[in-house]
Amino acid sequence: MDSRLPTGDEFLTLRDVGVTFADTGEEVLAGVSFTVPAGGFVAVVGRSGVGKSTLLRVIGGLLRPTTGVVRLNGADPADSDEAIGIVFQRDNLMPWRTVAQNVGLPLELNGDGEKGRKRDGRDSDAVAVGEALAMVGLAGQGDNYPAQLSGGMAQRVALARALVHRPALLLLDEPFGALDALTREHMAQELLSIWQAHPVTVLMVTHSISEAVLLADEVLVMNDRPGRISERIAIDLPRPRAADVEATAEYQAYMAAARRAIQAVNQKP
Ligand SMILES: Nc1ncnc2c1ncn2[C@@H]1O[C@H](COP(=O)(O)OP(=O)(O)OP(=O)(O)O)[C@@H](O)[C@H]1O
Ligand SMILES: [Mg+2]
Repeated sequence: MDSRLPTGDEFLTLRDVGVTFADTGEEVLAGVSFTVPAGGFVAVVGRSGVGKSTLLRVIGGLLRPTTGVVRLNGADPADSDEAIGIVFQRDNLMPWRTVAQNVGLPLELNGDGEKGRKRDGRDSDAVAVGEALAMVGLAGQGDNYPAQLSGGMAQRVALARALVHRPALLLLDEPFGALDALTREHMAQELLSIWQAHPVTVLMVTHSISEAVLLADEVLVMNDRPGRISERIAIDLPRPRAADVEATAEYQAYMAAARRAIQAVNQKP
């Protein structure tokens, strides 16, 4: 992955992106512009329904914006050479497939090997699946079925599936939203370790301001009607960051700033 990681300050670029759904006529996103450098970690926070998942779908090339452009290393994400890994808001594991078969799914779908990891057959797939499971702390669990897993383990499998083709861009939509607070903290630290060990650009949607400030280089605050980025907060905390950074005055100040940014607009009539 290291050799494939593109460089530059504008690895991911959104310019004036808007989405209006034709069926409802609702303008869900408007005027969204930002850039993310290669290897950056950006968090998106905002209330339920502001358009966070819609934004992620646009960036992932799953939904065409109504206006504006998205560029991933200079190309449309839907046609980009860059592999994209996505963890959806729900884990979306297939219950009839084993853990290993779930994690290997992107390799089957992306059989031509053009994007991400180069494939040369089933053996390399098995190696890639094993490595991805090891990255999320599930080595040796490949033969289990999703029904046998705890919620936290299922989310790890979803993360392994997103990482298996060594994406240059990792899109995470509330990946830990359904987990208890302790498991969530643990997973956040694991995500940081993965990001530090394997250079990848991360865009993560979260309801948790504390998680956003702990993990990200920059927090994008979204507000709605229409959904837009109302504030960008650069998080200038040293790395590596452990959970005890939360006790510092700087961290608390970032938390307060993000909270104010979310509330400021919502309190207007
Ligand atoms: N396919 C669609 N067709 C019509 N409207 C949609 C569609 N997808 C989303 N919306 C609308 O877009 C708005 C934003 O939805 P979105 O799922 O992006 O919000 P969100 O910020 O991810 O919310 P949450 O935090 O609850 O996940 C909502 O009003 C939703 O009803
Ligand atoms: Mg959502």
